[in-house]
Amino acid sequence: MNERHRQLVEAACEQRLRSYSPYSRFRVGAALLGRSGTIYLGTNVENASFGLSICAERAAVCRAIADGERTFEAIAICADGSEPTPPCGACRQVLLEFGGDLAVLMAGNRGAAGPVNTTTARELLPLAFIDFSANLADERDGKR
Ligand code: THU
Repeated sequence: MNERHRQLVEAACEQRLRSYSPYSRFRVGAALLGRSGTIYLGTNVENASFGLSICAERAAVCRAIADGERTFEAIAICADGSEPTPPCGACRQVLLEFGGDLAVLMAGNRGAAGPVNTTTARELLPLAFIDFSANLADERDGKR
């Protein structure tokens, strides 16, 4: 792990402490590194209507997009528990929207001092739904 990635993991772990998770008591922090070098932080925000809860990864993406950044190099995710937690399916889909090469670093509660798993958005979501324009073209050309 390079120094930039180590910093990213540490940022995610610190952000995890700001989690609003009174229902699950499972804290998650995310730190998304933009091409500009800016780090966008996110944490999970739960709700009494459980299905409205938002994950840390998607919170970080929303923050970055709102700030005008759209190209990302890496995301670090730090969750409670000694072992790294992989992102949920919804977050995998949202991360893939911004490129399959995105590095995904997953850490447990010890951050960079504990186990860190590294993969890419592409590897996390094989056979992903990405581009439906070819199917639309088929339809327009009378192929179905
Ligand atoms: N959670 C995340 O923040 N990211 C994930 O990728 C998995 C789940 C949160 C949502 C909820 O607040 C808590 O973890 C328990 O599911």
